[in-house]
Amino acid sequence: MDFLRWALPRLHMRWAGFRKVRRQLCKRLQRRLRALDLATLSDYRAYLTRVPGEWTQLDRFCRITISRFYRDREVYDHLCGPVLQTLAAAVRARDADTLKVWSAGCGRGEEPYTLAIAAHLAQPSLTDLHLQIVATDVDAALLAAGRKACYRGSSLKDLPRAWTELAFEHNQNGYCLRTPYRQGVHWIEQDIRTAMPEARFDLILCRNLVFTYFDTTLQGELLPKLIDRLEPAGVLVIGKHEVLPEDAYALAEWFPRLGIYRLSR
Ligand SMILES: C[S@@+](CC[C@H](N)C(=O)[O-])C[C@H]1O[C@@H](n2cnc3c(N)ncnc32)[C@H](O)[C@@H]1O
Repeated sequence: MDFLRWALPRLHMRWAGFRKVRRQLCKRLQRRLRALDLATLSDYRAYLTRVPGEWTQLDRFCRITISRFYRDREVYDHLCGPVLQTLAAAVRARDADTLKVWSAGCGRGEEPYTLAIAAHLAQPSLTDLHLQIVATDVDAALLAAGRKACYRGSSLKDLPRAWTELAFEHNQNGYCLRTPYRQGVHWIEQDIRTAMPEARFDLILCRNLVFTYFDTTLQGELLPKLIDRLEPAGVLVIGKHEVLPEDAYALAEWFPRLGIYRLSR
């Protein structure tokens, strides 16, 4: 669509990333046109030129919020098995007692909570370690939903049934995560383009955000900052269909088909 091909690069976003969610974006744009009483996207383009503040609105429309628990099963099968166990061993080896995770673009908490459930149920057990998960997102409403931790059944469709039964209580609010699995998650409202947690993490999940929607310039700026926030044996997980920028020299492939990399320096 011509309008998006014109507008997205101006927001440092890449058109290709939006191909699958174009309909959703177009619906939002049509709603905005109606609200502004504009007839066509050409009118909206002229409006953006006249009213620069509108770019902030457009940027907001470009936030895609699709997520679910245990999204991309094979990725989580690896995270819950070898990855968490290897990271736990590294934490113990440095005489620490906390495994630190950052979920960047955490949505309503589906990703950080999947990790929390996985760590609780891990075999061999990880109960000798504390799990600390920093969950960041630009959208305050999503973070509020994450704190509430009640979900529709469709959000849980990929989660192993036994996990759902153990970790959730089904009541009038939907499927609500039981308290023990909610502990240790810290929610921060942050735009990853301008702010990141000032800490080092054993595991960073940065899936279906930076390397799907942002352009290569922005990816190139953000990747070194992500790498800087990894512990020496830390692991970066990107989306299964995402590709790292070429200068990801500090990262070694671990399960590259699944977007799982580890620090190699
Ligand atoms: C497609 S969802 C992915 C959620 C989860 N990481 C996953 O893979 O299932 C993208 C998330 O990133 C958030 N997001 C979008 N732009 C952001 C930004 N600039 N900074 C931080 N979070 C952002 C959205 O609000 C949304 O929750």
